[in-house]
Amino acid sequence: MIPGSKAVDTMEETSLLKTLMAQIKEFRRPTILTPVCMIGEVIFEMLIPLLMASIIDNGIETGNMHHIVTTGLLMLLMAAGSLATGVMGGVFGARASTGFARNLREAMFDNIQTFSFSNIDKFSTPSLITRLTTDITNIQMAFQMTLRMFVRAPMSLITAMVMAFIINARLARIYLAAVGFLAVCLFLIIRKATGYFRKIFPRYDDLNESIEENVRGIRVVKSFVREDYETDKLRKASGNIYKLFTKAERMVILNAPLMQTTVYTCIILISWLGAKMIVAGNLTTGQMMSLLTYCMNILMSLMMLSMVFVMITLSQASAKRICEVLDETSDITNPENPVMEVADGSIEFRNVNFSYKTADSDAPEEARGKPAEKGNARTGGKERVLHVLHQINLTIQSGETIGIIGGTGSGKTSLVNLLSRLYDVDEGAVLVGGRDVRTYDLETIRSKVAVVLQKNVLFSGSVLDNLRWGNENATLEDCRRVCRIACADDFIEAMPEGYNTRIEQGGSNVSGGQKQRLCIARALLKDPKVIIFDDSTSAVDTATDARIRNALIHELPETTKIIIAQRISSIAHADRVIVMEDGHVDAFDTPENLLADNRIYQEVYESQVGGNADFDEMLPEGELHVHARRGGEA
Ligand SMILES: Nc1ncnc2c1ncn2[C@@H]1O[C@H](COP(=O)(O)OP(=O)(O)OP(=O)(O)O)[C@@H](O)[C@H]1O
Ligand SMILES: [Mg+2]
Repeated sequence: MIPGSKAVDTMEETSLLKTLMAQIKEFRRPTILTPVCMIGEVIFEMLIPLLMASIIDNGIETGNMHHIVTTGLLMLLMAAGSLATGVMGGVFGARASTGFARNLREAMFDNIQTFSFSNIDKFSTPSLITRLTTDITNIQMAFQMTLRMFVRAPMSLITAMVMAFIINARLARIYLAAVGFLAVCLFLIIRKATGYFRKIFPRYDDLNESIEENVRGIRVVKSFVREDYETDKLRKASGNIYKLFTKAERMVILNAPLMQTTVYTCIILISWLGAKMIVAGNLTTGQMMSLLTYCMNILMSLMMLSMVFVMITLSQASAKRICEVLDETSDITNPENPVMEVADGSIEFRNVNFSYKTADSDAPEEARGKPAEKGNARTGGKERVLHVLHQINLTIQSGETIGIIGGTGSGKTSLVNLLSRLYDVDEGAVLVGGRDVRTYDLETIRSKVAVVLQKNVLFSGSVLDNLRWGNENATLEDCRRVCRIACADDFIEAMPEGYNTRIEQGGSNVSGGQKQRLCIARALLKDPKVIIFDDSTSAVDTATDARIRNALIHELPETTKIIIAQRISSIAHADRVIVMEDGHVDAFDTPENLLADNRIYQEVYESQVGGNADFDEMLPEGELHVHARRGGEA
């Protein structure tokens, strides 16, 4: 162990506690009232054995009926008091803990909404889900238990012990020995179990990952007949949890026999020694009865305490994982005096370098998703840095139509993601409308630079709801107009309820091409200065693809259009084309010039339009002769 690491641990724990406790907020009252009620319960409970002793010694043995009745009534009153405070403590505890969990969940969710793409890369989606569900439930349970038991158990332990000593110090020493023995045993058990518990929660990430992936991709799983493989994967993930839990519980379960043996040993000892004392006249029957009751109290408190400790250690890992999400700050934030207007659609990349930083999946779990430490460039061996764009320099005029081609993984998506600040550059600058994108208000830049993402999703709701993600104030007429441009109007109107047709979650009830066209329409509604199509017409037939492109040119002459495509026909009409290779710009020129002297462009062209022509060759009218002409030139 590193010297001083204990101090660091304590400091870390204090800051965890501070972050968590800040979420109690409006539930401070029940949070305080719960232990107060529990203290009340202990006081009432502790008085009962005393009263019982009095009934036996002063009532039954002397035949004093009046004393029996009045003390009996008093006992009833105490029992009622204990019940009432106990119930109230339970109610306040439940209120405080559920409220606390709600606040925590909301705070986490709110913070996740501010995350940038790279923040999300750092935590994985399944991990975020586990943190929002299992981890919060854990904390909620630990919090409730702590509120109810953490004050009650030691207080009841001490009070019962004091009472026992007051009644008979010699016999009470038996308890002291029992408590000492149990405390040592419990400490050892818990220490062993904690080690297992700490390992369990990260394993839930794997379980959730497996479940999420499978359920989300259930259609693919079925079509590839991978059910067995997936079931196996899940079995492994849940088997891991099962194994760890069994190991931990096997330790914790030792509590029960240990406790019982100790309790019964104490009872036998007290009865045996107590009986002798009664015969010798040093102890009354009533006193012995109360001693036996206190015996149960003491040992039950100890049991409760051990449970609280298990729960707290169990929840420590969860607390840490929750705080990581709460403390994570988005690395893409609004500048101080943001620019609220994007002048035009001109674009410039100046010496841009960019890399992805992802959690190192080989690193131990604690290291994953760890908040960035300021100043250490977010590496420190726990993050993997992947350089994907090198020294990009480009200048694009407003209104131009730009094509981007390049092999998969060449950095096309990464390049355009910088334009709307989905990611920020490492070095250099990206300018839109003559200004660095980092000087704009985030909402402004994201609405003026619209992206039709490569992996796009629709949300459950009507077609109109989905379109209005682009602009919530859009009228039906606006929606119709953009759908015409995106060639989506035909199929929408053919749907049973037209624009009010419900889209299922993830857009599962529309085809791939229909989904792409809806996403294009949605982006167009933003009335952007720059619009980026990241492989957005890959599922649309070539004729429709050409119709969409023509409509864009005519309807949005001012808007800069950036089209990433695998199909050469999708970019052959562009003013200029960027050819990407391995994160570099290999060439940036007109399609004609590229066809004349760029090797990559020529290869793609040849494979698609040249000798081994395929379906893509069936180009719509107008483009056929362009290609024919170009083919002639080449
Ligand atoms: N979120 C991410 N985290 C880490 N690495 C990433 C991430 N996204 C992309 N990469 C990596 O960056 C490189 C460039 O990816 P990019 O998505 O820009 O390629 P692309 O040219 O768009 O490919 P495609 O034509 O297949 O869409 C790839 O090596 C990819 O593995
Ligand atoms: Mg891509």
